[in-house]
Amino acid sequence: MKNESLWSGRFRKGLHPLAKRFSSSIAIDARLYAEDITGSIAHITMLASSSIVSQEECHTIVTALEAIRNEIENGALQLNAEEEDVHLAIERLLIERVGEVGGKLHTARSRNDQVALDERLYLKKVLPQLQRSVRGLQVALLTQAEAHKETIVPGYTHMQHAQPVLLAHHLLAYLPMLDRDHERLGDCLRRLDTSPLGAAAFAGTSFPIDREHAASLLGFSGVMLNSIDAVSARDHLVECIADCSILAMHLSRLAEELVLWSTSEFGFVEMGDEVTTGSSIMPQKKNPDMAELVRGKTGKVYGALVALLTTMKALPLAYNRDMQEDKEPLFDALDTVGDCTTIMTLILEHSHFQCERMERACENDMLLATEIADYLTRKGMPFRSAHTTTGQLIAYAENQKKALAAVELAELKTFSPLFEGDVSDVLSNKASIAAKRSLGSTSYQSVTEQIVYWQNILK
Ligand code: ARG
Repeated sequence: MKNESLWSGRFRKGLHPLAKRFSSSIAIDARLYAEDITGSIAHITMLASSSIVSQEECHTIVTALEAIRNEIENGALQLNAEEEDVHLAIERLLIERVGEVGGKLHTARSRNDQVALDERLYLKKVLPQLQRSVRGLQVALLTQAEAHKETIVPGYTHMQHAQPVLLAHHLLAYLPMLDRDHERLGDCLRRLDTSPLGAAAFAGTSFPIDREHAASLLGFSGVMLNSIDAVSARDHLVECIADCSILAMHLSRLAEELVLWSTSEFGFVEMGDEVTTGSSIMPQKKNPDMAELVRGKTGKVYGALVALLTTMKALPLAYNRDMQEDKEPLFDALDTVGDCTTIMTLILEHSHFQCERMERACENDMLLATEIADYLTRKGMPFRSAHTTTGQLIAYAENQKKALAAVELAELKTFSPLFEGDVSDVLSNKASIAAKRSLGSTSYQSVTEQIVYWQNILK
């Protein structure tokens, strides 16, 4: 006896057990059950209002679908892991419950437009959740920034001490980055907000369906205009994973900074016990595993992007079974960046920045070399010459093993007659920060303005 599938009318033998296992996607797509049912309810409602099925048939089907959804939600019902996919599993449950009339649900529909629809509905649900997590991380960063409006930290380029900056300014750098991530997810949502339902297998249907009606029942802003595109398109999924990849990159850079800053060499931050782990052999260790994992998981998010791009790259139109492979990378990327965003928030909430340690790291006043070059420039020397003169002065001070501030005015004057007593005014980290004038700089005023800007957006 062949094993009956909902599509097996023309087959005389059942699918080979290995082929069945190989081609089943239910373990991955079961999570689409709610979207699948929502889509089916909208579809049958539209079929009824277009008089393709009767109101009574519609009612029977909707009632059963709602019961199935509730039972899955409260754990009373589990999808049969033997089924090929979530769509067939639910349809079979429906037919088991209501009898042959349940078979009317699939009128003017195919799993091709059904799966495309389910994925779009799923993203309409989870992308706003991910956006909220991004907002949560922004709030955690802002809260730390508010607490460190005065803390000075060496700023780095090439990982070398460059110029002093406010810790708040450094942390605030992540806010616009994350804001662009938030925006990108919003763009993705806007672009995927058209319904593929009603494309049927790919050519459309001879039933007088009302695609716009079904789309509006589902909260879409419109319908996809070409039925072949409707079932073939996966660029929105690629875009979604690309957005996740960029977000993961940002999280990874933040994670890396915290890992680096928590080393004994830096000692700029101590992460709380809540987000660190010990070593099973070295009792003194407090390892930043959560931040390392955020950094590490970035790899598989990028992997998901390449996986889907590669799956799609040579597929002819319209639906091909290869496309079933879209869900694993999509879900994995979304789950992973969702978790990473939440964990980074937790890490920030449990991080203690070591202000004294940071300020001590700024004591090397070579960080102020740019201030001297700017000083000479303000006195009229062309910046390039001021840069060279300052470089010579630095070499001299290093040679004499003197801090810049300890070089006497008489010595300074041997480098340039432009040096005067007021040079000492520029030779402090605070002065350097306060002296910044440009919009978006690390000055106290600019940092306060940035904080107010983000408070208005986030609170
Ligand atoms: N499980 C399939 C997928 O996720 C559903 C669509 C199958 N369509 C088909 N004609 N075999 O892509």
